[in-house]
Amino acid sequence: MSSAPRSIRDAYDPEQFRRQGHALIDTLADHLAKAHDRQGPVVPWQAPEAARAEWGKAPLAGADLNADLASILARSTALAHPHCMAHQVPPPLPGAVLAEAVVALSNNGMAVYEMGPAAVPIELAVVRFLCGKLGFGDTAGGVLTSGGSLGNLTALLAMRQAHAGFDTWKAGAHGGPPLAVITSDEAHYSVARTLAIMGWGEGGVITAPVDAHHRMTAAAVRAALHSARGSGRRVIGIIAAAGSTATGSFDPLDELAELAAHEQLWLHVDAAHGGGVALSPTHRAKLAGIERADSVVWDAHKLLMMPALVTAVLFKQESHAYEAFAQRASYLFADERAESHWWDLGTRTLECTKRAMAVELWTQLRAHGEQLFAEIVDRQAALARAFADKLDAAPDFELALDPELNIVCYRHTPAGVANLDAHNRALRQRVVEDGRFYIVGTMLGETYYLRSTIMNPLIEPSDFDHLLDHLRALCP
Ligand SMILES: Cc1ncc(COP(=O)(O)O)c(C=O)c1O
Repeated sequence: MSSAPRSIRDAYDPEQFRRQGHALIDTLADHLAKAHDRQGPVVPWQAPEAARAEWGKAPLAGADLNADLASILARSTALAHPHCMAHQVPPPLPGAVLAEAVVALSNNGMAVYEMGPAAVPIELAVVRFLCGKLGFGDTAGGVLTSGGSLGNLTALLAMRQAHAGFDTWKAGAHGGPPLAVITSDEAHYSVARTLAIMGWGEGGVITAPVDAHHRMTAAAVRAALHSARGSGRRVIGIIAAAGSTATGSFDPLDELAELAAHEQLWLHVDAAHGGGVALSPTHRAKLAGIERADSVVWDAHKLLMMPALVTAVLFKQESHAYEAFAQRASYLFADERAESHWWDLGTRTLECTKRAMAVELWTQLRAHGEQLFAEIVDRQAALARAFADKLDAAPDFELALDPELNIVCYRHTPAGVANLDAHNRALRQRVVEDGRFYIVGTMLGETYYLRSTIMNPLIEPSDFDHLLDHLRALCP
């Protein structure tokens, strides 16, 4: 058989890759410099239909790769721009972007050790580091997976297998009494979705109301437990938030852990948003009690400034890491093969092929030290506080609540506007279509608020003044 044709050899040509790579790094660095200088839009808005028509017309061969990549970057929402104050998505540390290139080029799938002889021990080291930051002891362990939603599914599958009291793999969801968990009415939607996927139906989620600080207290959970009794559902777990999605509020984990221990319930903490606080001596106390949780989900692609997706699913007892996808309940039979082959990470996750996602965080921790991550969290929180103070001082804006960390909810309340919800919804849409700033919105109870998550540590307090002026100027 003849050797690979020219087209294949060209596509894999290291020298072409070198040239394109060098040029691409210049494009990326220029993009960062421009964004940091507040040049260009944050959202290069185009109506969805027009965007679909334009990108759909692209020819499928003969395009210049660097030109394509440059135009994709120019037409993407610029998270590195300090006027991006919207979702819980960070401008990634640039060093992590370089690490990502190695992850992609090596493409080590990781389900079994030999498909990630560097990535597997690095992942185990990252998991151990994060468990340590939570205050979990030596018997803790876990796995990295692709996103907080999948992380919640993984943790709650483990909860079910450990606490259902029957073998859910063998018997299915209906192999025992109907089960339920208690969570707050502000839990991330992935929690309800997970339980629906698990076949628990709508009654599988019992919601406890949040208090005035948007926290789910033990008293609220106790009341929900009380009313759940007699409903025919057996409650097996409490799902708390450490950094709720809408407001970034932290549930009182200590008192919830106390209650969970007393009632013999599994305590899962969704710290997808707020887990990064564990690295900040200033804000660490918000997580007090997390060390008593059974499982924790922690997104590194939020406060730890990694490119999406890198989620840690951490268990106080490492044996639970094998239960989510165990074909046999470990309380019935220890699945010795999975645990004795701890180096084959595929037994702990839904994913078969998995990106070597620990590499970004591991290299960034080694390059910068923990201190940088603490400084970033502290700055995000201080910026959110500064923004809240400006909103408090502005007569035509209303702050929904004091931010606990880095999520600020607020609304424009100019005199003479009868329907403030409609006004703020329309205002946000104008902000997005204008593109010079980016903010989002959320419902808190029955009221619509604008919402800014302060992720970019390069924001300056004056950027908030500019945002408020911008919002005023966009009013009709
Ligand atoms: C509290 C919380 N949990 C889970 C998630 C889902 O995480 P992901 O977007 O990584 O799937 C989010 C996302 O914003 C979140 O805020």
